[in-house]
Amino acid sequence: MALLDKHAIIEKNATLLLVCSFAVVTIGGIVEIAPLFYLQNTIEKVEGMRPYSPLELAGRNIYIREGCYLCHSQMIRPFRDEVERYGNYSLAAESMYDHPFQWGSKRTGPDLARVGGRYSNTWHVDHLTDPRSVVPESVMPRYGFLKDTPLEIGDFSTQLVANQRVGVPYTEEMVANANADIHAQANPDADTSGLLERYPKAVVADFDGNPAAVTEMDALVAYLQMLGTLVDFSTYDETAGYR
Ligand code: HEC
Repeated sequence: MALLDKHAIIEKNATLLLVCSFAVVTIGGIVEIAPLFYLQNTIEKVEGMRPYSPLELAGRNIYIREGCYLCHSQMIRPFRDEVERYGNYSLAAESMYDHPFQWGSKRTGPDLARVGGRYSNTWHVDHLTDPRSVVPESVMPRYGFLKDTPLEIGDFSTQLVANQRVGVPYTEEMVANANADIHAQANPDADTSGLLERYPKAVVADFDGNPAAVTEMDALVAYLQMLGTLVDFSTYDETAGYR
């Protein structure tokens, strides 16, 4: 009886009820959420991930600017039909350096999470210039102007520094070499040893076939060609995250 009386006091006092409810919800929230910060198995370790090379990062900026994400997702879901079509389902770690991420859900065109290496550079340039020339039924718009637009490089180190601020582990060496690495990656005759040490597996090529200039097409194709190629799934241990 006494307990019911006390509860009646709380029920009749709106402020007290609010304070008590808040306390209960807070305790419940902490009990649910706090353990997650200490569980190692919520953090998946994946070998091979590295920050984008400066040319890839520039291509990614163009991808976002042109709104490619409005028709293309970059996340392969763990369903059989998707895995058979696109390859291993996407891991969270594969977009750990994406600011903002490009997962998306709109698929007017195919998912691009693992498009890297699937086609030649020339195919990409032809396709972006005139999609119907290689896929007759395509409804994708033309992006031929990217070939005629020189890449605005400026002081590209600022882009790396901006990413550093949100947690991407670009080293000071990467920042210092940002502009040089852009030119090295777009020129197959360049000395690329430094570039490949900093960014393993970076695809080096004169992507658009025009050696006279680094164009927006070079950057975009460099980006497309690395998508989904960093993690080697022949050595990836799926159960590692659960140990
Ligand atoms: C209006 C929707 C639309 C937009 C915007 C769009 N695409 Fe596409 N994309 C498609 C469609 C549809 C296809 C499938 C037909 C084809 O291959 O052209 C496609 C195919 C592709 C493919 C081939 C994928 C594969 O696995 O065969 C690539 C690569 C691609 N798009 C890149 C891009 C890029 C880069 C941009 C931005 C510059 C872009 N798309 C913008 C609709 C779009």
